[in-house]
Amino acid sequence: MQDISLFPPEARCVFFLTDDASDLTRYEDLLPDERDEVSAAVDVRKGEFGDARWCAHQALRELGVESAGAILRGERGMPLWPEGFTGSLTHTEGLRAAVAAPKRHVHSMGLDAEPAEPLPDGVLRSIASPTEIEMVSQLQADGYTWADRLLFCAKEATYKCWYPMTRRWLDFDEAEIELRPDGTFTSQLLARPAPVPLFEGRWVQRCGYVIAATYVR
Ligand SMILES: CC(C)(COP(=O)(O)OP(=O)(O)OC[C@H]1O[C@@H](n2cnc3c(N)ncnc32)[C@H](O)[C@@H]1OP(=O)(O)O)[C@@H](O)C(=O)NCCC(=O)NCCS
Repeated sequence: MQDISLFPPEARCVFFLTDDASDLTRYEDLLPDERDEVSAAVDVRKGEFGDARWCAHQALRELGVESAGAILRGERGMPLWPEGFTGSLTHTEGLRAAVAAPKRHVHSMGLDAEPAEPLPDGVLRSIASPTEIEMVSQLQADGYTWADRLLFCAKEATYKCWYPMTRRWLDFDEAEIELRPDGTFTSQLLARPAPVPLFEGRWVQRCGYVIAATYVR
């Protein structure tokens, strides 16, 4: 397990673990416009949405923003942060998290968490290049049994960082990921035009999850 920070020092990350998928406490505490975003959804969706938004508001509070206003869903689901801030949200079974940072320090961020379990059969082939498949096999042989899931997670973190910068879709074969055992990775961006050649990333495996984060200063 690595002991590295996933984020730049100017960012604040808030997360928690939960075993109650239909706890709507935090959803009910959201601002009315936020609740409206998922008011027609099933309770599990309301719960994860409310929990991750709660984390986002907490992170903004830690950055000195007392009343951030509603963090709504923008184009293609991108979270709309208050003026002058950026960040990213993730929720998966049992874990909710958000990270936020001032725009003057961080241009864009992507955060993703997944259970630290191998991907279902056949998924790796559909999201990975031959080079990435070879890298994953090597990592698995070295004991990182969930390396395929980590690759997926790094790709989703890449997309969440990419989209707010470009407002463009990024396919799984449009970023080549190099995962390193020291808890770092790079996402080489193959789509053109690209705002930067690559994203630097960090990852950890903790509490049964793999978590990947990317950011651009
Ligand atoms: C959007 C996507 C990345 C979300 O990942 P996920 O593992 O399904 O779900 P997570 O819980 O981790 O993240 C969901 C959050 O991502 C954020 N998100 C959704 N769309 C987004 C976008 N276009 N840009 C930035 N963030 C986005 C939202 O905050 C969302 O939470 P909310 O709907 O409650 O507000 C995923 O569903 C997807 O579409 N992936 C395909 C694109 C991709 O990954 N390409 C790989 C490029 S190498």
